[in-house]
Amino acid sequence: MSEKDHIADALLSWFDQHGRKDLPWQTDRTPYRVWVSEIMLQQTQVSTVIPFYERFMAQFPTVEDLAHAAEDTVLHLWTGLGYYARARNLHRCAKQVCELYKGVFPNDLAGLEALPGIGRSTAGAILSLAMDARATILDGNVKRVLARYHAVEGWPGQRAVSDALWSFAEQHTPQERLADYTQAIMDLGATCCTRSRPGCELCPLERDCKARALDRQSDFPGRKPRKQSPLRQRWLAVVTRAPGEVLLKKRPNSGIWGGLWAPPEFEEPAAATAWIVDTLSVPEDACRVGEPFHHAFTHFKLEAYPVRAHCTANRPETIGVECDANNLQWFALHPPPSVGLPAPIVRLLAKLGAENPPRSN
Ligand code: ADE
Repeated sequence: MSEKDHIADALLSWFDQHGRKDLPWQTDRTPYRVWVSEIMLQQTQVSTVIPFYERFMAQFPTVEDLAHAAEDTVLHLWTGLGYYARARNLHRCAKQVCELYKGVFPNDLAGLEALPGIGRSTAGAILSLAMDARATILDGNVKRVLARYHAVEGWPGQRAVSDALWSFAEQHTPQERLADYTQAIMDLGATCCTRSRPGCELCPLERDCKARALDRQSDFPGRKPRKQSPLRQRWLAVVTRAPGEVLLKKRPNSGIWGGLWAPPEFEEPAAATAWIVDTLSVPEDACRVGEPFHHAFTHFKLEAYPVRAHCTANRPETIGVECDANNLQWFALHPPPSVGLPAPIVRLLAKLGAENPPRSN
């Protein structure tokens, strides 16, 4: 029996016994449901994704429902999942599938890969999981399985390493049971061939795994050369007004927290204060800098200082109730707004909400 057959057969028998078969996206496996799950599962664990996925599907059962939604509503349902470009691309992609394909996902790699946010592996996952078509995936879990099995040296971010892994992934892809095979190799990576302390004794690929033979499992896949991530300090103009409202700004789509609502951000404390003084007629000595909060991004660490002020000026014309040209809008703290909010801002608003409890009549 060839090596290729050995891997596919071993994985499929393992899947029949140990694979996951009742994840929410495994029932009623349509391209739409599989696509949403694959986008959510990029960079996010299954256990985190499940409740988000269920809420998302309840609100948008079809690609048409998603295409017709307001971007703020889509981002609201993504609040807490992170990597918000995924949600904006998801929304753009739904619109394109409706406009270009009348709501039916293309059934070929090139058509899928041309859509926003769908790369080679996600396209392969949609084809294999939802259409049982012969297509290959190479997500983080599969990279680890194959890098160990073949002892592929180097970091998969390097082109040559990635090419080698894709080539192995394609060789091992069987002709039949594509959905089961794809789920099997992902599940093996997620539950057995884990990054730390892999369960090699229980692995169906143990016999021919090169990393296991060399006792070098933790060397594969090679790690990205790590630079220390720089610290970025910012000041947020956190302005409240009666009766329990906060001023937020919708961020431009480029940059961090793109499309989400957050207090206006400044690079210097004086700039935040000057903005509050000029825009809202709050006296300078009524602005005070609070304790910072921290948030880790892929490329830097954020240290954000709230510059707190309470606006008493009765100047509703300064910033209208509707979103103005500066993308500024007052939002009630109770209940918290149904728009996309970065996780640290959700916590900040909860704190402001506790300081400004709703009036009981
Ligand atoms: N990670 C990416 N896709 C997945 C899937 N379909 N099931 C479990 N984990 C995954």
